[in-house]
Amino acid sequence: MTTLRAASRRLLTPRLFLSWKPQASSIQVRPVLASGHITSRFPAPCAIRHSSHSPLGGAPASSRKMITVQTLRNLHKKGEPITMLTAHDFPSAYAAEAAGMEVILVGDSLAMVALGMHDTSEITLEDMLLHCRSVARAAQTAFTVGDMPMGSYEVSPEQALQSAIRIVKEGRVQAVKLEGGEEMAPTIKRITSAGIPVVAHIGLTPQRQNALGGFRVQGKSTAGALKLLTDALAVQEAGAFMMVLEAVPAEIASIITQKLKVPTIGIGAGNGCSGQVLVQIDMAGNFPPGRFLPKFVKKYADVWAETVKGIEQYRTEVKSRAYPSEQYTYPAPEEDVAEFRRIVDEIPEKK
Ligand code: KIV
Repeated sequence: MTTLRAASRRLLTPRLFLSWKPQASSIQVRPVLASGHITSRFPAPCAIRHSSHSPLGGAPASSRKMITVQTLRNLHKKGEPITMLTAHDFPSAYAAEAAGMEVILVGDSLAMVALGMHDTSEITLEDMLLHCRSVARAAQTAFTVGDMPMGSYEVSPEQALQSAIRIVKEGRVQAVKLEGGEEMAPTIKRITSAGIPVVAHIGLTPQRQNALGGFRVQGKSTAGALKLLTDALAVQEAGAFMMVLEAVPAEIASIITQKLKVPTIGIGAGNGCSGQVLVQIDMAGNFPPGRFLPKFVKKYADVWAETVKGIEQYRTEVKSRAYPSEQYTYPAPEEDVAEFRRIVDEIPEKK
């Protein structure tokens, strides 16, 4: 009688190994451009893959030149709105790059919309570095900005510079963003003096929500608007090459924008800014129904509904055994299957 061990020994010969060839269902994983050529910055990680984890490839196709600080200055000079979107990981950065965003921001909104934290004060520099790196891998041509998390820059300009260097060196992004106005001028000066571009963030600064009394519109009163203008001029003077204006009445943001030499990027600040930014998860509708959305968010897609619909169908098909149908399986040569079955049938039943 054939024992399982004897059968295995007899069959595990070079003949059996050599008889196996990659099947037609093998997956080709190569970063191929729409134009047909392969991206040079990121080599193909592997040619054929049989495992369950499918890499997205190197980076999305792009025929566009790298976006730099100078590109953004030129857009501003021409009066062409600058497009900025957040991304928090490789796939979301891949999508932003593929859709032609000029600036990809690894915002610390990551804490709340992707990591489930209560507010942005919880996220650490280490967390930000990990996410900046994953975004940077997909951002082939977009200009990338990493947010400085709370606690990584407020203590002193030296502390801020050390953190900014880590965000650029380890996070692999091209610029940093930090919250605060006039009081942050020495910090911005210190970081920019080391050759790191800074995006300032004034108006509603979510890291300071406890001091601001929550997420409130800023610059509504004349005094508030004058304070905003003072902040904007101070961060510009300190060397910020661009600034985010968050939750500011449209007319106030527009007047401030006209008084500045550097571009403003609005979020909840109307159409008179030099560009716009939104949080990708918000604008893509990647959240369950009923979630609170700020007034300024326009939902451009319904990623949540599409995802849930797909997962529900998958569940149904697994339960009914409709999935995986034959097209999703690996074939083996008929004679090997038959031989294997014969051997298995000869193995005595366990008592
Ligand atoms: O953290 C973030 O995503 C931001 C944007 C809202 C500007 O700072």
